[in-house]
Amino acid sequence: MKGIILHGGNGTRLRPLTYTDVKQLLPIAGKPISEYALENLIEIGIKEVNIVIGSTGGEEVKKYYGNGEKWGINITYTCQEKPLGIAHAIGLIRNFAGNDNFVVFLGDNFVQNGISNLYSNFKSHNYEGMIALVKVKNPVQFGIAEVEGDRIVRLVEKPKEPKSNLAIAGVYFLTPKIFESIDKLKPSARDEYEITEAYQDMVDKGLKVGYSIISGWFKDTGTVDDFLDCNRLVLDRIAGNIHETEISGNITGRVFMSKDSYISDDSKILGPCFIGSGTTIENSYIGPFTSIGPNCKIKNAEIEDSIIMDGTEISLSRNLILRQSLIGSNVKIKTSESTSRAMKLVLGRDSRIEL
Ligand code: DAU
Repeated sequence: MKGIILHGGNGTRLRPLTYTDVKQLLPIAGKPISEYALENLIEIGIKEVNIVIGSTGGEEVKKYYGNGEKWGINITYTCQEKPLGIAHAIGLIRNFAGNDNFVVFLGDNFVQNGISNLYSNFKSHNYEGMIALVKVKNPVQFGIAEVEGDRIVRLVEKPKEPKSNLAIAGVYFLTPKIFESIDKLKPSARDEYEITEAYQDMVDKGLKVGYSIISGWFKDTGTVDDFLDCNRLVLDRIAGNIHETEISGNITGRVFMSKDSYISDDSKILGPCFIGSGTTIENSYIGPFTSIGPNCKIKNAEIEDSIIMDGTEISLSRNLILRQSLIGSNVKIKTSESTSRAMKLVLGRDSRIEL
């Protein structure tokens, strides 16, 4: 069994962050979202992983994952020049797959309980393809499956009138039989080669295609709200782990503090939270479900339910609370002492501010 993690695509719904950053590398509790997928693959014993990177940002992905040594596995890369669809990306890894079965993980998808149960199901039924399904409240945003008993009847990509609430989660178990179906695909209405249609072709051919329903939490982190939701979920499970940190402040609950972070006496941290290394927090309140990346400087601030990425400086002298915010790397936010109503903003394309 081999593993593939997709790191291509446009990430339009996470702009402006994705103008500069690869969406699958955006951090949740101090780790790129796609690292959770990698851990899931390693848990089922996969030792060979291929990461499909896009034409931009690929170097960053390579820099982070390298040759996989850090995780005790072998990682190689395939470049998808244009985001022509998930099926197109999978079509590019056929040499990597060779004659082996493989599992494709969308790098921005998160599966709370891992994929061991799914893998057991795939193996024990000798499926030629298997999809992971999850019950959702918003089926129009997903590929949707119609099933009868243990059979898949139909798979439709983002139907306007969904016939079920069983969404296709971004974990695809496959055999090399999929490549024949991928080769027959034509671009869809959204101009992509759809993996949903390739699976449908396997179903139509009478191949043994199964499904497994994901029991725990699943998240496609395509939007800011989904990303923050996922952060909440991960932090909710975080084990409080206070390293050799200079602690003098008031820390309550499960707070993961990295080495070299500093919390001043007059600060209050209420977990679950993640605080990255080299970050200093002075005269501030950091509330539940906040992840603060490395090397940030937080002063006189109140922050809750947010993700703050590396190198960001926040200093809020007024009575303001930063809540449900996703703040990128090296951002500077500060309030002036004056009571003037004037605001000074330097914002890039697609920035969002709600005051
Ligand atoms: O999240 C599950 C959903 O993912 C499924 O229910 C849908 O059937 C499936 O089509 C997909 O829908 P999305 O519209 O959410 O896909 P998105 O364009 O966001 O891409 C999903 C991941 O695949 C993301 O990590 C980027 C990567 N990707 C995407 C495309 C189009 C690539 O690596 N290359 C690509 O060409």
